[in-house]
Order: sequence, then structure tokens, then C-alpha cells
Amino acid sequence: MPLITYRDRDVLLVPSILAADFAQLGNEVRAADAAGADWFQADIMDGRFVPNISFGPLVVAALRPHTTRLLDCHLMILEPERYVDDFVKAGAGQITVHAEACLHLHSVVHQIKAYGIRAGVALTPATPLSAVEEIIDDLDLLLIMSVNPGFGGQHFIPHSLDKLRRARALLDAHGSQALLQVDGGIAADTIRDVVAAGATSLVAGSAVFGHKDGVEAAINSLRHALVDLA
Ligand code: DX5
Repeated sequence: MPLITYRDRDVLLVPSILAADFAQLGNEVRAADAAGADWFQADIMDGRFVPNISFGPLVVAALRPHTTRLLDCHLMILEPERYVDDFVKAGAGQITVHAEACLHLHSVVHQIKAYGIRAGVALTPATPLSAVEEIIDDLDLLLIMSVNPGFGGQHFIPHSLDKLRRARALLDAHGSQALLQVDGGIAADTIRDVVAAGATSLVAGSAVFGHKDGVEAAINSLRHALVDLA
């Protein structure tokens, strides 16, 4: 169930499993699913595009039977085109690649779409929106990173709000139905601003899986932070 409907758009909550207890991943995903998660994001990291190594398609495949929610694979890897097939076979319902990691971004987006799943493009904080202007009509999702990719638990970069507003305007100018996703430092103290700026898909790791009272309390806290925006 969406966190909120704001300006006639459903706003989805996408817990990032990067912050979950990897020794209990299936249980964590089932608990967050039951507590109202809309999708789940798998943060894939290769230690080259980003300075961290996380996990690959085998973990996505292991999770697939534990939830019917869409598995959103955020590939923070170089040459992601090499692994699209593996993540589709693992059960990805969406694959998001970084504009900065692709020599031929239009080609990779259409490679993903050819599998009949959703295609997203992510931009790091320093990459301008112009990097996707020519392919905006091809996207199912645009991800604005509000931290530098590689690690959970970072602080939200404030200039991300202006970038979100401009991204919202760009998508609206094209009549795009793509989701506008934001990822990094999304918590009770930042969630209201990003929704007001036009985000429609919110990735949260620490704020969901790192909450002291568990995932249900965490998701209720995020929902409560939006109550006066409805
Ligand atoms: C960074 C990751 C994180 C993660 C969310 O590469 O993409 O942004 O998903 O982390 P939190 O919600 O803990 O900032």
C-alpha cells in the first residue's frame, strides 16, 4: 500500500535490503512486506563503480520466493549490460543502471526493456539531469541519488531537493509516467521534503531495517511523518 497519495500520485516505499540483517534476509523481507513495503531494492555493488562490494544475482534469486513484491535491482556496477540477463533470471522486476557506468546508455535501457521488465537510470549527486534528457521518454524510473553511492546510513545531501524538483518538472514536461525515485538518507526527517519535491518512489535502508523498534514501527514512523501532506 503506497505510503501516501500526493498530488494524485501514489508514493511508494522501497526498503533497501542493504541495511537488513543478512543472516535473516528472508525473515526481514517478509516482515517488511507484511508491514507495508511496496517494492524491495537490491543494492548491487562491484567494488569498482563504488568502493563497496555487496551481493549479486544469487541473493536476489534467494529472496524471490519470500515476497511477491517487485524486486528493484539498483546496479552500482561498471558495464551493467553484462549482468542484465542474470538479474532478470534471478527475478528482478526492474533494473536500474547508472548513467555514469554505461558507455551506451540508450542501448542498455532498451536491452532491459526487451526482457519486458522496467528500466531505470540513476544519477549520482554530481551528474546533471541533462545526462538523461535525450532518453527521458524511454525510462520507467529516474533515480536521483541523494548520497554518493556505495554505503547505507549516509546523510541526505541537501541540494538533492532542488534536483528532485527539476527532475519532476522534466518528467512532467514530457508527460512521462516514469517513477521519480530518491535514494540515500531517506528518513522521518527528510521524507516530507522529498515527497513535496515530487519524488514518487522512496528508497530507505537504515530508516526501515535499522529502526530500534523493528520494521513495522519504522514504516509507521515514515507514514506518520507524511500525515499532514495527504
Ligand atoms: C547507497 C545505497 C543506499 C541505500 C539506502 O549506494 O543505495 O542509499 O540504498 O541507504 P540509507 O537509507 O541507509 O541511506
